[in-house]
Amino acid sequence: MTEQNPNETTYCDLPEDFFFGAALSGPQTEGMWQAHGKLENMWDFWSNQDIRAFHNRVGSYAGNDMGARYAEDYELLASLGLSSARTSIQWTRLIDANGKLNREGADFYHEMFTAARKAGIEVFVNLYHFDMPAYLFRRGGWENREVIEAYAHYARIAFAEFGQEIVHWFTFNEPIVEPEQRYAHGNWFPFVHDFGRARNVQYNISLAHSLAVLAFRELQAAGAVREDAKIGLINCFTPPYTRENPTEADLEAVRMADGIDNRWWLDLVTKGTLPADVIETLAERGVVLATRPGDEAILAQGKVDWLGFNYYQPTRVQAPARDTDEQGDPCFFDPYVWPDAVMNKSRGWEIYPKGIYDFAMTMTRDYPELDWFVSENGIGIEEDHAKRTEDGRIDDLAYRVPFVRDHLRWVARAIEEGARCRGYHYWGVIDCWSWNNAYKNRYGFVEVSLQENYDRRLKASAEWLREVTHTHHIA
Ligand code: BG6
Repeated sequence: MTEQNPNETTYCDLPEDFFFGAALSGPQTEGMWQAHGKLENMWDFWSNQDIRAFHNRVGSYAGNDMGARYAEDYELLASLGLSSARTSIQWTRLIDANGKLNREGADFYHEMFTAARKAGIEVFVNLYHFDMPAYLFRRGGWENREVIEAYAHYARIAFAEFGQEIVHWFTFNEPIVEPEQRYAHGNWFPFVHDFGRARNVQYNISLAHSLAVLAFRELQAAGAVREDAKIGLINCFTPPYTRENPTEADLEAVRMADGIDNRWWLDLVTKGTLPADVIETLAERGVVLATRPGDEAILAQGKVDWLGFNYYQPTRVQAPARDTDEQGDPCFFDPYVWPDAVMNKSRGWEIYPKGIYDFAMTMTRDYPELDWFVSENGIGIEEDHAKRTEDGRIDDLAYRVPFVRDHLRWVARAIEEGARCRGYHYWGVIDCWSWNNAYKNRYGFVEVSLQENYDRRLKASAEWLREVTHTHHIA
């Protein structure tokens, strides 16, 4: 992808049938971490083991109290003009230690989905949001083939239990994140730095995704899943860029960054294969995937009905300064620091709205049959609370509105030019717990007060959002 100046775009209108919604996840909202017979997941385990790893020592138990407030929260989302919300079932709440359905956990979700429907919100259900059950992690997590089978088993139970209720399903949220955060960069427990192990985890998650899609198709054919139901995958795709006037080596760095982060999943969900050029280059550099006979047939099942595109930031890379790192792992790219980058300093992520358009157009060109939606986009700000005005409301108009407006305008332009984008979900419409960052960076149009028992209060930007969802005009 060639770099262009991030010009503003003037497209302001979204199609009438374009939907707006909220992106959420079970572990970040529900709280109630030990209710309904819920088992320990990796976040609970890590919080118990070392609470200092979490901002202000707020661990996984927190959520944002939505488990107790879902009825009013879904009404609140509907009052903002949203029509759908994606959340996740927690594997550890739905399945018991013997691998059987946990009735209490299942009933919690039935009640929550019913409340959402009553409020006029369609729930999209995702099955996995970085929340591996701790007992399965102890058996090797995604490095163990038995865990892949356990995931497929869980997926089958979830489809069967909610198959008449839910139309939009997703196998994974951001399957690239655990390989990177847990196994390549060592930021998350178990803090591994091993490029080869990370790629094998990525490979095994691809198999798990494909087995879940297979289970979905089988149950749908048998009538256990409704006929109009759809299955998809959600990933944080990162449009890749390099320096101006790139060398061959810079372009090669782009090919591999794009191949591992983006094309890997796009090929899997549209063709049922992994990108041959990437697998070949990995093998040439000694990164061997632990494949087994029959895997190709499993991956071939991975084709989906549509896709979720989470967009926060682009990837900027350049040729690596060295071939291998200190432990002998191959280097395929180094970060490239674009001198013109505008940063969200709270999160350390670049703000580049045009990236959403560039990637949309790449999908339109290379995967023209694929329907998709923006499944996450948002801005997390640490100083949100410092913007409180006299009436007690947070005035976030100066940063949250331009962020969303600029991204939506580029989406509008992409649609105008043929992109098959069907809707937009904002991440964390109601402030929520964010992994290690806990409550450091606030994303919401709605504030959650930790001092006042998780009470909700609209921020100034909420009015703007309501206007956009009602008019489909991005002012
Ligand atoms: C996405 C995840 O990566 O970004 C969410 O799907 C996450 O779970 C969101 O919360 C924002 O990132 P963070 O790290 O600021 O919470």
